[in-house]
Amino acid sequence: MYRRTLLKGALAAGFLPALPRLATANPLTLTAAPGEAPLVVPDGPATKAWLYNATAPGPVLRARQGDTLNITVQNDLPEPTTVHWHGLRVPVAQDGMPFLSQDPIAPGASFDYELPLHDAGTFWYHPHVNSSEQVGRGLHGLLIVEDPPEIAARLQADREIAWAIDDWRLDQQAQIAPFGNRHDQSHGGRTGNVLTVNGTYLTRTPVRSGERIRLRICNVSNAQNFHLNFAPFDPWLIALDGHPVTPQKLGDTGVWLGAGQRADLILDIDVPPGTPARVIDDAYGPDRAFEVMTWQVSEDPPLRDTPLGPPEALPPNPVADPDLANAETHKLTFDGGAMGGMAEAMMEGRMLSIKELVEAGRFWSINGSVPTRLHETEPLLKLAKGKTHRITLENRTRWPHPIHLHGHSFRFTDPRAGNIATFRDTALLMPGETTEIALVADNPGKWMLHCHILEHQASGMMGVVEVA
Ligand code: C2O
Ligand code: CU
Repeated sequence: MYRRTLLKGALAAGFLPALPRLATANPLTLTAAPGEAPLVVPDGPATKAWLYNATAPGPVLRARQGDTLNITVQNDLPEPTTVHWHGLRVPVAQDGMPFLSQDPIAPGASFDYELPLHDAGTFWYHPHVNSSEQVGRGLHGLLIVEDPPEIAARLQADREIAWAIDDWRLDQQAQIAPFGNRHDQSHGGRTGNVLTVNGTYLTRTPVRSGERIRLRICNVSNAQNFHLNFAPFDPWLIALDGHPVTPQKLGDTGVWLGAGQRADLILDIDVPPGTPARVIDDAYGPDRAFEVMTWQVSEDPPLRDTPLGPPEALPPNPVADPDLANAETHKLTFDGGAMGGMAEAMMEGRMLSIKELVEAGRFWSINGSVPTRLHETEPLLKLAKGKTHRITLENRTRWPHPIHLHGHSFRFTDPRAGNIATFRDTALLMPGETTEIALVADNPGKWMLHCHILEHQASGMMGVVEVA
């Protein structure tokens, strides 16, 4: 039941999960460098990877809402990099966009970021240069902005667990397979064969009956859109992409986590001691379900006799509420990909045929145009600063796309099931789906908007939205 059997027989049972590594120093240094990660079995072949501070994932960065986080990024990679703080509404100069907001950090050089933390929640960080390869080689980590303690206490959680769920493409020697494959770019992205939680394959987490856990989950994979199923548990969903939702049971619907998205849950271990339980990804349907991790419910007597009641809602983050009645409207149309209808697209003022586009390594377009230089294109949209904007997103392709906007959080205007009312930074658009998002354009600058399937991003599904 594990994700596509690989390295059969090499799978040790019963090893402990990697615990999230805490980094609370401020200022702190993140060093990106080649290293080795024990992804599959601790005593098996080490995987050569690219790591932040020598771990995969990188250290969990933790700070308090209202703080300013000072981080020096040291680049010891063989190529330029930057760091983007996914979901944080920071000034554009801190957003980590090569050429657009800063020069790429050259090998051997460093860059100081200063991040004001307006919003509490679960966020993450990753490079924005050659993202498919740099993220795919292991550069990513969680960034947790804690609620004030008296607010966190209302959740009544006994402890907190944070997961970076990743999906690696490894060869039979447990080494990372080559990048830049055009099939990945034009189809579903670089999907992998080894699913890890905090860098460990087939994680086992000891829990105790009666315990309440606050679980923060982030999908850091290049291209997987997970659909997580927690049966026999029925957790409360309390936040998406860092932003609180009215606590609600996941019920039978589970939770979708497109690449880049996060969910915060309250999980009550409300089964008798010793009950087997695990988390399953059934994004491809119940017949092709994969194990994400296993809970080891101890034989100890339950921690409490009476179950806890529903968790209290977290207070909303200070995101401006869109004024839907007085909004400017816009549309973004996504085309291309395998089995799609894209026949031509504009590139630098010239209409290119599909053949020319493929030769240029471009498989996707937004509003009929493709970028030449990924971070430096003419803006797709210009949004008047301070105004509410409603943006229709139309996915005309045969593939799902988690569409991420930098610098702002938006909400869906369509209250259909699945679009839970909250702010988000990444919208998972299913094949053929059209939806509408709304936001107040209150963070001036040129911001990236792109698919978080990093191979789609690399092959054209990327553009700039300017707020001025
Ligand atoms: Cu998480 Cu532009 O990315
Ligand atoms: Cu995509």
